[in-house]
Amino acid sequence: MRKTVIAGNWKMNKTASEADSFLKELAPLVKGAKCTVIACVPFTDLTAAVKAAKRTNIKIGAQNLHFEKSGAFTGEISADMLVNLGVEYVIIGHSERRQYFNETDETVNLKIKAALAAGLKPIVCVGELLSEREDDITAEVLRRQIKIAFKGVSADEAKGIIVAYEPVWAIGTGKTATSEQADEACGVIRSCIASLYGKAVANKVVIQYGGSMNAKNAEELLSKPNVDGGLIGGASLKSADFSIIVAAAAK
Ligand code: PGA
Repeated sequence: MRKTVIAGNWKMNKTASEADSFLKELAPLVKGAKCTVIACVPFTDLTAAVKAAKRTNIKIGAQNLHFEKSGAFTGEISADMLVNLGVEYVIIGHSERRQYFNETDETVNLKIKAALAAGLKPIVCVGELLSEREDDITAEVLRRQIKIAFKGVSADEAKGIIVAYEPVWAIGTGKTATSEQADEACGVIRSCIASLYGKAVANKVVIQYGGSMNAKNAEELLSKPNVDGGLIGGASLKSADFSIIVAAAAK
């Protein structure tokens, strides 16, 4: 029903020439994968990555964009600039951007609308802090993030959005959510989307888990009914590990 989507988030890693050789090494390892395979690379790697991924099943994404179309925003990159390079996906609202670059639910919403208007497919990150999980407000936090993120987004557009549930305490820490925690939180996100657009739309939305997903735990996490894929940081930087995760998605 929903196609599994495995996306790598390289973060601030690999130069353009490293991206080129990495993707050439990865391509034969993920050839024929039954899931969608995406590499979200630094802006400076995009041209090399799009070129290296040509005639492969690897899709290329960016890790951020600005919500304005153009103008006096020194250092920023617009949706049209990404589309012009052949980029298909863009990560929006990653917790590192929320934490270090002051992104809010409101700017996430503006970015989603800018991406959709330009024809980019957003991968929207949501997730609770450790203190919020300890205070037992995970579901409320996720609902707030989703409701604001999807404000003004049509049902048709919503179907094409990928949501990544990334508990902040699990990112880059080696602490993975249990598959039950991941499934439960992805279920909360899906029912929130159902409350906004109805069940038919919610059943079409791909919801990934992210946070220390690796070659060892991917199969268990991906076996859960509400977990439709993964957004992978550290383990996406090694072709062998990343291709094991891609293979796990077919099981
Ligand atoms: P991690 O990062 O796999 O290194 O925990 C995931 C992410 O931040 O998307």
